[in-house]
Amino acid sequence: MHKFFRDCEPTDPRAVARSDDRLREAIQQTPKLLDCFVAALLAAMILAPSAAFAADAAHGKVVFETCAACHSDKPDAIGPSLRGVYGRKAGSLQDFRYSNAMLRAGFVWSEENLRAYLKDPQAKVKGNRMPFAGLSNPKDINDVIAYLKDYK
Ligand code: HEC
Repeated sequence: MHKFFRDCEPTDPRAVARSDDRLREAIQQTPKLLDCFVAALLAAMILAPSAAFAADAAHGKVVFETCAACHSDKPDAIGPSLRGVYGRKAGSLQDFRYSNAMLRAGFVWSEENLRAYLKDPQAKVKGNRMPFAGLSNPKDINDVIAYLKDYK
């Protein structure tokens, strides 16, 4: 157990009452309560990040409406279909005419690659032809990726 928590055992009040020395010691230890509180808070932040930062696919669907203007299922869509894009090789749909930049990208659309591309499409795939500047809000990026994972 971490030393922070070992020090957090409550002092037995009867033991304190038995001896003035113990009482003085207990009073001296009071600032430790603050340490314990901080330790507990840190533990909560480390153990429960998923609750606070979980991606929200439902909100991702709303974000995706911006993408769907180009990435629709229509045959004359401006962008390639994003159905099944998660885990797909970049520039790999046979029925879409990609830019050379996208054809040469040579990576798979992992979470990491999607995040970089959606943040700054031109920085990630220099010279690609997506006429979209990217998403500035990291939450929108995370949420739309969560949505894309199940968009098939
Ligand atoms: C104004 C039109 C437009 C918008 C809006 C748009 N895209 Fe694109 N997107 C494109 C085009 C065109 C390409 C093909 C780029 C190329 O070939 O260089 C593309 C390519 C992509 C690719 C690569 C697909 C593949 O098959 O390799 C991904 C991933 C992508 N877009 C995601 C998104 C997401 C997510 C959004 C919304 C946040 C979005 N795009 C918004 C037009 C758009």
